[in-house]
Amino acid sequence: MAPTHAFKVGEIAVQNSLVLAPMEDVSNQAMRLIAKRIANPGLMFTEFVSAMAIHYGAVKTFRKMRVHDLERPLGIQIFGAEPDMMAETARIAESMGADIVDINMGCWVPKVCKTGSGASLLKDPDLAEQIVTKVVQAVQVPVTVKVRAGWDYSLFAAPELARRFENAGAKMLTLHARFAKQGFDGHADWTLIEQLRAAIKIPLLGNGDVRSPELACRMLRETGCDGVMVGRAAISNPWLLRDIRLGLEGLPPGPAPTMRERIETAIEHLQLLVAVEAEVDNYEMAVDSPRHADAELRACRALRGQIPLYIKGEPGASQVRDRLTRCSTIDEYRAILDDFAAVRAI
Ligand SMILES: Cc1cc2nc3c(=O)[nH]c(=O)nc-3n(C[C@H](O)[C@H](O)[C@H](O)COP(=O)(O)O)c2cc1C
Repeated sequence: MAPTHAFKVGEIAVQNSLVLAPMEDVSNQAMRLIAKRIANPGLMFTEFVSAMAIHYGAVKTFRKMRVHDLERPLGIQIFGAEPDMMAETARIAESMGADIVDINMGCWVPKVCKTGSGASLLKDPDLAEQIVTKVVQAVQVPVTVKVRAGWDYSLFAAPELARRFENAGAKMLTLHARFAKQGFDGHADWTLIEQLRAAIKIPLLGNGDVRSPELACRMLRETGCDGVMVGRAAISNPWLLRDIRLGLEGLPPGPAPTMRERIETAIEHLQLLVAVEAEVDNYEMAVDSPRHADAELRACRALRGQIPLYIKGEPGASQVRDRLTRCSTIDEYRAILDDFAAVRAI
């Protein structure tokens, strides 16, 4: 069956209307490869990449921009407050293989906003527009912008900004339908997505609180957005992400994952992240080589919060969570998860 709701971002074809959100410490290459294999979103985004860090040559930050052909189309998201630095980072993102360069104007955390980047730009429309203009001029690939509704509740700044970005050459907008001051409090107000849809011609992704196929379909229907961006619901649950994509295509959910499948996917996630951390393309090599012990430790630590979520909701899962959050090797994770599955099978 032909996928429904395909759309284009500039010349980039997006095959279905499900989009994986950019998420710091989550939507790394390991997670994206698993999401692609199981859920096949039409488009995915990297974690945000600091233009400042790239400018000063932080190796760890360059790693975030590695692109594998299996993940395409992929947007690399960048953030910063200095137009020339943003243009420079956009050029590097393009040279690393980005299909799209996305500019973050939605991050509300003080560490980012106090540098004038992220959602803080919503308070400075001239600078925000200048950044979009410079980034558009710097690259051939389409440039997109992810915004929140505005800084404070009092001002729905997104429509005016979005029109300026569209005129500056942006090829798509994403609206996380909360105000920056809200953080993650309250609900996303989807009526704001509908209002923004009416204000611009370029594609618009709706974002905020989509946790099920039903909610995704409702967002698409009620707001008229072109695609639905999903963040938190996708963390350690590629099967829910798959069901959301199927729902958007008018299809029933797929089979629920077995316990074995969840555990093997959790282990695959760890192995892939070791490979990403070790900057090798073969994860078996990364796991087997003693040279990559550091990468294994880093990956295991980074996923301490996410691996337990693979078995969340299962009876007894909360009892093993503490043990899982102390693992430093893949073998330790596997031993605990295998024990958990064995006890449940009795
Ligand atoms: C752990 C985490 C990290 C995030 N990192 C980013 C980021 O790097 N860039 C960005 O634009 N948004 C980031 N976000 C916001 C998400 O992209 C998304 O806008 C938000 O979670 C709302 O969508 P949801 O309700 O589907 O989770 C992050 C969210 C979470 C939970």
